Amino acid sequence: LKYIFSDIYKRLNNTKKKKERKFKMSLEHFISIHDITTDEFKHLMDLGFRLKKETKMGIPHPILKGKVLGMIFTKSSTRTRISFETGMYQLGGYPIFLSSHDIQLGRGESIYDTANVMSRFVDGIMIRTYAHQDVLDLAKYGSVPVINGLTDLLHPCQVMADLMTVYEHKGRLEGLKLAYIGDGNNMAHSLLYGCAKAGMDISVATPKGYEPDGEIVQNAVSDAKETGSNIVVTYDPEEAMKDADVVCTDTWVSMGQEAEKAERIKIFKDYQINGELFSKSKDDSIFIHCLPAYRGYEVTEDIIDGPRSVIFDEAENRLHAQKAVMAAVMGGI
Ligand code: CP
Ligand code: NVA
Repeated sequence: LKYIFSDIYKRLNNTKKKKERKFKMSLEHFISIHDITTDEFKHLMDLGFRLKKETKMGIPHPILKGKVLGMIFTKSSTRTRISFETGMYQLGGYPIFLSSHDIQLGRGESIYDTANVMSRFVDGIMIRTYAHQDVLDLAKYGSVPVINGLTDLLHPCQVMADLMTVYEHKGRLEGLKLAYIGDGNNMAHSLLYGCAKAGMDISVATPKGYEPDGEIVQNAVSDAKETGSNIVVTYDPEEAMKDADVVCTDTWVSMGQEAEKAERIKIFKDYQINGELFSKSKDDSIFIHCLPAYRGYEVTEDIIDGPRSVIFDEAENRLHAQKAVMAAVMGGI
């Protein structure tokens, strides 16, 4: 009996040791691009491209073999769900889709209990939800890596994919200019952080009252000091478009804002990316959009379905960018 116990104990101890993650980088969670260093940012981009190449060449990369990702969704999703599930499968792991309609979180169980319980089962948590604080609390109370799959404040995985796409089409990031026209929302915020980290200039044009969050702009300005990028927030879409290499917009009505739809459509009408506004950017500028898009509102068909739109490359890159994020935070790569 003594022998059996000591054997079990030894084995448990070994498992424990294996679980101590030896990071090549210090990335514990992926909640905001502002939290990562420029080296970590570059590492994630490189890893995304490596995994994309290996996927295309059919080279297996089971970096997360045997690991489980719990994916909490309190908002709808097409791209985020499919790309995380597929990505986890391609990395040799297993994803569990957890809709808030089905789990107790949706019936009022606390984030504290959810974080503690999930940490006993899974190796990482991806969450898409409303309040950003819930994601921070999940990371604080749980003991496994947390990945932000969109909050009302930020959408960092999307912007990693966006910047991979820009790099593929322009051959560089540093020194380029991105114009974001529309709502100062989660996309605007993560683009501010992403461009600042990548050394890209960014101009954000919004209607009055829909500006990006002041603290986020300040953080981006401070990050931009390190990379030398220029950050502008304006009410003038034409000014923002001038000399832009990349043009971006997003829905005028984000998830949770459905009741404001009629009012928003009126307020944002001069911020539509149409032929006239697009012509104010560089002649070889590209158009990106995180999707879902609403043609005839934030962008006209001729632009989003035109020759300079790269929206489906961008959507595909969600898979590769997020595999890099998962490999980094859950696999220590
Ligand atoms: N861009 C994006 O996050 O798409 P989904 O809402 O479909 O996940
Ligand atoms: N700003 C949008 C992005 C959707 C991917 C939203 O939050 O609904």
